[in-house]
Amino acid sequence: MERKTCRVVRQTELSPDIYKLELEADSLSGLSRSGQFVHIRVREGNDPLLRRPFSIHDADPDKGTLEILYRVVGSGTALMCNAVPGDSMDLIGPLGNGFQTGRKRPRVLIVAGGMGIAPVPLLVRELIRDGKKVDLLWGVRCETEFFDLNMNGVRTQRVCEEGSGIPEGLVTDLLEKKLPECFPGNQWEGFVCGPVAMLARVSEMIAAHDFPWQVSMEERMACGIGVCMGCAAETKSGEFRMVCSEGPVFDLKEMVLNG
Ligand SMILES: Cc1cc2nc3c(=O)[nH]c(=O)nc-3n(C[C@H](O)[C@H](O)[C@H](O)COP(=O)(O)OP(=O)(O)OC[C@H]3O[C@@H](n4cnc5c(N)ncnc54)[C@H](O)[C@@H]3O)c2cc1C
Ligand code: FES
Repeated sequence: MERKTCRVVRQTELSPDIYKLELEADSLSGLSRSGQFVHIRVREGNDPLLRRPFSIHDADPDKGTLEILYRVVGSGTALMCNAVPGDSMDLIGPLGNGFQTGRKRPRVLIVAGGMGIAPVPLLVRELIRDGKKVDLLWGVRCETEFFDLNMNGVRTQRVCEEGSGIPEGLVTDLLEKKLPECFPGNQWEGFVCGPVAMLARVSEMIAAHDFPWQVSMEERMACGIGVCMGCAAETKSGEFRMVCSEGPVFDLKEMVLNG
C-alpha cells in the first residue's frame, strides 16, 4: 500500500454520469491486482472530509497508469468528474485482498450488474493470461451504460432493463439460463459484482451449485484500512468482516446479503 499524489492523464465521459479516469500512478499500478481498490481524496482540503473508495478498473505497469470507472452519485463523484488533465489527486492503495485467480478451474463465469463491471477488465486479463475460458453476463439498467471495455477473448452476453436492440431483462435471467450449462461443476468458478439486491439473488441461485463463487462487496467506508469498523459486513456464521481490510472480495456463500 502506498500514498501517492497522482496526476490526471485523461477523463472520459463514457455515458451520461459514467466516467473513466486515467491517472499517472507510477509504482502503484504495478502493485495492483484485480478486485483491489484505491481510496481517493477527491480534492485538496477537508471538504469532503472522507476519501472515496473505487475499484481498480485497469492498471498498466508499463505506462505507470491506473484507471477508475465510476458513476456520479453524490458530492464526491461530482467533484471528481470535474478533474481535468494535469490536476492531481491523492490516492491510497492498492487496498483490500483482491480476487483469487489462481484456482485450477479452466472455466469462469463472471456476473456483473451496473457499476459492478468496474473491476472486471483487470480480472478478465488475469484470467485469460492464465489460459482460462471466460463467460461474462453483463446487465445494466439503460443501454447507454454499455461501452467498449476492450476485453478480448471473453464470451459476453448482455441484457438491459430498458433498451432497444439488446435483450431486455435482468442479469439474473441470463444466469438462470447459463447455470445448467456450467457442468461439470468442478471445472467452473464464478465471480460476481454489482448492487446488493443482485448479489442477494445470485447468492440464492447458486446455493445448490457446487462451484466456488467470489463476491466483491461494497460498504460505505471511512478509514479504508480496518481501523474505524465502519464497513462491517455480516457472515452467515454471525461474525462481522471489515470490507476494506478483509475484503472487499469474499466467498459469496458465506455472506449475509439483504437486497
Ligand atoms: C470497495 C469499493 C469499491 C467501489 N468501486 C466503485 C467503482 O469502481 N465505481 C463506482 O462508481 N463506485 C464504486 N464504489 C462506490 C463509490 O465508493 C461511491 O459511489 C462513492 O463513494 C460515492 O461518493 P459520493 O461522494 O459521490 O456520494 P455520497 O454523497 O457519499 O453518496 C451518494 C449516494 O450514494 C450512496 N453510496 C455512497 N457510497 C456507497 C457505497 N460504498 N455503497 C453503496 N452506496 C453508497 C449513498 O448512500 C448515497 O445514497 C465502490 C465502493 C467500495 C466500498
Ligand atoms: S472503512 Fe474503516 S474499518 Fe473499513
